[in-house]
Amino acid sequence: MMPGLARMIPFFPYSQVFLQDEEELVGIFRDVGRRGAFIEQEDLRRFEENLAAYLQAWRVIGVANATDGLQIALRVAGVEPRTEVIFSSHTMVATAAAIHFAGAIPVPVECGADHLMDPQAAAAAITPRTSAILPTQLNGRTADMKALRRLASQDGLLLVEDAAQALGSRFERQCAGTFGAAAAVSFYPAKLLGCLGDGGAVIANSEEVAERARALHDHGRDGRGNVTGWGFNSRLDNLQAAILNYRLSKYDAVIARRRELARAYHAALEGVAEVVRPPAPDENEIHFDVYQNYEIEAVERERLREFLTGRGVGTLLPWGGKAVHQWNALGFEVRLPATERLFERVLLLPMHAWLSEDDVTMVAAAVREFYRGRS
Ligand SMILES: Cc1ncc(COP(=O)(O)O)c(C=O)c1O
Repeated sequence: MMPGLARMIPFFPYSQVFLQDEEELVGIFRDVGRRGAFIEQEDLRRFEENLAAYLQAWRVIGVANATDGLQIALRVAGVEPRTEVIFSSHTMVATAAAIHFAGAIPVPVECGADHLMDPQAAAAAITPRTSAILPTQLNGRTADMKALRRLASQDGLLLVEDAAQALGSRFERQCAGTFGAAAAVSFYPAKLLGCLGDGGAVIANSEEVAERARALHDHGRDGRGNVTGWGFNSRLDNLQAAILNYRLSKYDAVIARRRELARAYHAALEGVAEVVRPPAPDENEIHFDVYQNYEIEAVERERLREFLTGRGVGTLLPWGGKAVHQWNALGFEVRLPATERLFERVLLLPMHAWLSEDDVTMVAAAVREFYRGRS
């Protein structure tokens, strides 16, 4: 422990994903194991139904991870090879990779003040080759879907959402993942609803899209084993689905806790002129944010980060410190000045359901102390 430090605050305590409900998880493991119910079994079907009901979505199809899910979503939504798909460059490389591996061309655009896709930037990027708009519902917030939906319908474009970070987040009371033809969500352990490994789901918003996704994720087979076309093997393990079913039943409490912590951060960082806070939970009636992350903008970000590390506070640079278009290896030739400036300032503070109010107070006090020392 650091001198004078009450405790360490890790960015994300991975072992808690297991330890928080170890007994129940061991019980689930034993039950699934004794039934030999590993692939495409009852627990998975139940989870798909429960999640679809939770989101008020047409259907949910469990897949191996959200990256596969996005690729499947793009394909089954009807994105054609060699067409352009617009995405916000402030996202995981997985978003662009899914577009690339669906055979389409990823077109990165700027994000707005809330760090999500800027509808005006999306509008400006539309060309005759554009087939779809793919907003990332980043940090547990849903983008301005009114504007993006209007844009898509005006130009006859498909809407596919990357909802990997936004399960249960809402825009005008509608859940992320239900606005377009299809979407994907992630159950990676550090996600809002995490399992004990990789996992994801496709959200399909019509029966036709659902049927195509169900076949595409399982070797092209329909429910009766008939091969209806080429397909992948990208299935969500039944064991993970059983765990997710259990966790989904307690998910509202997870969201409520994260919103409480965001409220606490917001108050504790009030008046720190060098920090831009994310929107507060009760900012307005339009957005219901679920705080996958607490992403601030900070003056002297690198030095602040070092200082917080010295105080035992774990932080993370989003996506390794670069927006997708800034990775030279991917061959993007655009410049996105607003996003690039943002990436000199963004920092993720600890945000997870096991954080206490005292932890938040301590992190915020360390941030204040850093800036006091520099003025
Ligand atoms: C915005 C976003 N998109 C896609 C993914 C990919 O999810 P998965 O790891 O389940 O493939 C992630 C996961 O970190 C993500 O945060």
